[in-house]
Amino acid sequence: MNAISTFDVSRIREDFPVLDQMVNGKALVYFDNAATSQKPKKVIKALSDYYLNDNANIHRGIHSLAERATANYEATRKSVASFINASEEEVIFTRGTTEGINLVAQAYGLKFIQKGDHIIISELEHHSNIVPWQILCEKTGAHLKVIRINEKGELDLEHFQELLSERTAFVSVNYISNSLGTINPVKRIVELSHEHEAKVLIDAAQASHHQQIDVKDLNVDFLAFSSHKMYGPTGVGILYGKRRLLEEMDPYQSGGEMIREVSFEKTTYNEIPYKFEAGTPNIGDVIAFSKAIEFITDIGFDNIQEHENNLLQASTDLLSNVPGFVPYGTAAIKTSVISFNIENIHPFDLGQMLDAKGIAVRTGHHCTQPLMTKFGIEGTVRASYAVYNTLEEVTYFVENLYEIVKRLTR
Ligand code: ALA
Repeated sequence: MNAISTFDVSRIREDFPVLDQMVNGKALVYFDNAATSQKPKKVIKALSDYYLNDNANIHRGIHSLAERATANYEATRKSVASFINASEEEVIFTRGTTEGINLVAQAYGLKFIQKGDHIIISELEHHSNIVPWQILCEKTGAHLKVIRINEKGELDLEHFQELLSERTAFVSVNYISNSLGTINPVKRIVELSHEHEAKVLIDAAQASHHQQIDVKDLNVDFLAFSSHKMYGPTGVGILYGKRRLLEEMDPYQSGGEMIREVSFEKTTYNEIPYKFEAGTPNIGDVIAFSKAIEFITDIGFDNIQEHENNLLQASTDLLSNVPGFVPYGTAAIKTSVISFNIENIHPFDLGQMLDAKGIAVRTGHHCTQPLMTKFGIEGTVRASYAVYNTLEEVTYFVENLYEIVKRLTR
């Protein structure tokens, strides 16, 4: 890895022209990174270069453009494989994390999960890691079990161990909570699940840009994430699966590249990973995604974590002085997400008033309604930081929040 020696946030910001704009007459402060991150110039350039020079369908033409597009598309698979320490055939391109989870729930679940089996998720999950398993339970007669969290938003591992049994067939949990920022002990979760011969999927949508992921070290069976949260384009995701499991699974969708031979009597399927990539994929965005991986590896996870932890620490300290501040998610090990409410003020009102100051935060349930219900709230205000955010922005945000709260509560 080629990490830059000193972390220079102003140099990094030069790569993100979108940040240099006025919103409602104020300089933009973009704190909605857990929803989607902004894209550096090299990602945008790779996407436009593809359409300007190389656009062709892949894997099926022998002309030069088709060969170039295919080589660049497969080069991204190689980059992803090395980024997460997988083999190339274990890396499947999807539309995003949600599609990856649905793929496993359908293509693994419908074949291997049986009536009476248990599937374990947690109270921290995004709807995308709840609903596919509920649908699978309805179809198969399996039962959904839910790991409790404590008041800080940490998984209760003792409760997890109580839930695990010989009936546990599958465990699916997130690596990092999108609403609270809790970093979960996923390696331990995989170990405990494997002691009961259950397979494990990790939803790494909020982790792939904060943590070095090594699927071999985690020994995880499946892991899914999205390009657009990690400085890459929307519409591209990764599903990692262990080779043997992917080979045993049935296809998810059919048509196009997933076919080996078709006759009206019988169709045979392509080898992995192509068995799971039906139809013309999102070629240009996949190619541009490799530049997002390059962007992250050039900075290095040590630098990213140190910078984002500084922002988290500063916000935690400063926000505690705002009257009526109620934080949600105070886990000992967490990433740079701050979820909160201000007593007697609706989160949407705060979101709108912050937007008037040029500050973009997310408000609402963050697609985690069961988690909000657990806390007895409808939603929160969420500020989530990325590598291009600054301490000045954090100070500006907290000062403005303070002013808004004073105005609304006087
Ligand atoms: N899951 C994304 C978020 O947390 C969209 O905002």
